[in-house]
Amino acid sequence: MGLNRGLLLAAMALLFAASLLPEAAAVRYTVGGNKGWTQGVNYTIWAQDKKFYHDDWLFFVYDRNQMNILEVNKTDYESCNTDHPLHNWTTGAGRDVVPLNVTKTFYFVSGKGYCYGGMKVAIHVEKGAPPPAVSAVKSNSPLSLPSALRSSVFIPAVFAAAAAWDSLLMLL
Ligand SMILES: *[C@@H]1O[C@H](CO)[C@@H](O)[C@H](O)[C@H]1NC(C)=O
Ligand SMILES: *[C@@H]1O[C@H](CO)[C@@H](O)[C@H](O)[C@H]1NC(C)=O
Ligand SMILES: *[C@@H]1O[C@H](CO)[C@@H](O)[C@H](O)[C@H]1NC(C)=O
Ligand SMILES: *[C@@H]1O[C@H](CO)[C@@H](O)[C@H](O)[C@H]1NC(C)=O
Repeated sequence: MGLNRGLLLAAMALLFAASLLPEAAAVRYTVGGNKGWTQGVNYTIWAQDKKFYHDDWLFFVYDRNQMNILEVNKTDYESCNTDHPLHNWTTGAGRDVVPLNVTKTFYFVSGKGYCYGGMKVAIHVEKGAPPPAVSAVKSNSPLSLPSALRSSVFIPAVFAAAAAWDSLLMLL
């Protein structure tokens, strides 16, 4: 009896916790994975097996003395023209965060000639993330596959602090 009640309370607590979760956790993608933003990586291939949703993040990690990160339009992406970027995301630390806060295709290139060598990526951002896995609650498993895949939850402030800390480390 007592045990059943405990289980019921636990299940209710779990359901309540699940109801507090946002529709889906935002994902932070480090562009290029372990290689980062550099030469010799085909970013089209890197991006093609990923789905980017509104409010996900991109994290560009690169040699601040060489590369940079510019958002351009489609025409300029194709021709590697960096004369009139839509947005200069370069902050100077070699670690730049880009919020994918618009449902559109973002086009990023590196200036300084690197775009011609393939340092460019088009990121197609979709409207909403898929609904959270209800089965995770039902099966009582805290680590179902979808939630594990989308586990990198980043509250912007926390992330900004982490980026600032990284920048500080770079300066040392
Ligand atoms: C991109 O910007 C250039 C220069 O401002 C312009 O000539 C071109 O038409 C634009 N392309 C698109 C797809 O908006
Ligand atoms: C982008 O911004 C950085 C940091 O403010 C600056 O050093 C750089 O010259 C800018 N690059 C372009 C192409 O505007
Ligand atoms: C997206 O984020 C950028 C950078 O923080 C900001 O300048 C821009 O206003 C945001 N756009 C929307 C639609 O929220
Ligand atoms: C990346 O790979 C794709 C698919 O194989 C290819 O079409 C594209 O030309 C490559 N891009 C670069 C910059 O090498």
